[in-house]
Amino acid sequence: YKKGPLVFYVNGKKVEDPDPDPGYTLLFYLRKKLCLTGTKLGCGEGGCGACTVMVSKYLPDTKIVKHFSANACLIPICSLHGMAVTTVEGIGSIQNGLHPVQERIAKSHGSQCGFCTPGIVMSMYTLLRNNPQPTGAEMENAFEGNLCRCTGYRPILEGFKSFTKEFCQMGENCCKNTGNCSNGVVENGTENGQTSDYLPLDSTQDPIFPPELRVN
Ligand code: FES
Ligand code: FES
Repeated sequence: YKKGPLVFYVNGKKVEDPDPDPGYTLLFYLRKKLCLTGTKLGCGEGGCGACTVMVSKYLPDTKIVKHFSANACLIPICSLHGMAVTTVEGIGSIQNGLHPVQERIAKSHGSQCGFCTPGIVMSMYTLLRNNPQPTGAEMENAFEGNLCRCTGYRPILEGFKSFTKEFCQMGENCCKNTGNCSNGVVENGTENGQTSDYLPLDSTQDPIFPPELRVN
């Protein structure tokens, strides 16, 4: 056992804590110590998903970075040594521009009181980091841990369907209606040259995993 500071990253910034309190959860640390209040406290016991963030870890055996959606209210802060955390503040904002996940939930009216929204956004964002074009079923499964008391889920799923393999943007002109399909699959918001109303998903704009944490 080697004693030393707790080192991890939050939204691309290094956090080095020489004397972390092992009783703190990640959620408490984010909200109280780092003043990142976008991640919400709902139930505090892993049941609602309001506190969902993305935790990224380098896997030396396979040399890949794996992303996990996680309940920040359940994660002991000291377990994050060597990992990277992404919160809703780290993917987009009104000031710096929304991420496509945020833009699509807003345009589909999938946010009412908004309390569940950061967690739902982070579950979708994490899915897309691991799988840029999921199926509709994979997309629905990604929200197993997220509750929303306002929207009834339909507008959330409608907005995020636009990221899935099955999404067709042709509306009434869809091949299912016309029998004239040249492709039927939309990629990143365009189909057959038609420009989407949505911001395209561009994975080249995603923050990189901190090189310092790629330790074999
Ligand atoms: Fe409800 Fe974390 S606050 S799951
Ligand atoms: Fe209110 Fe989901 S928008 S809980």
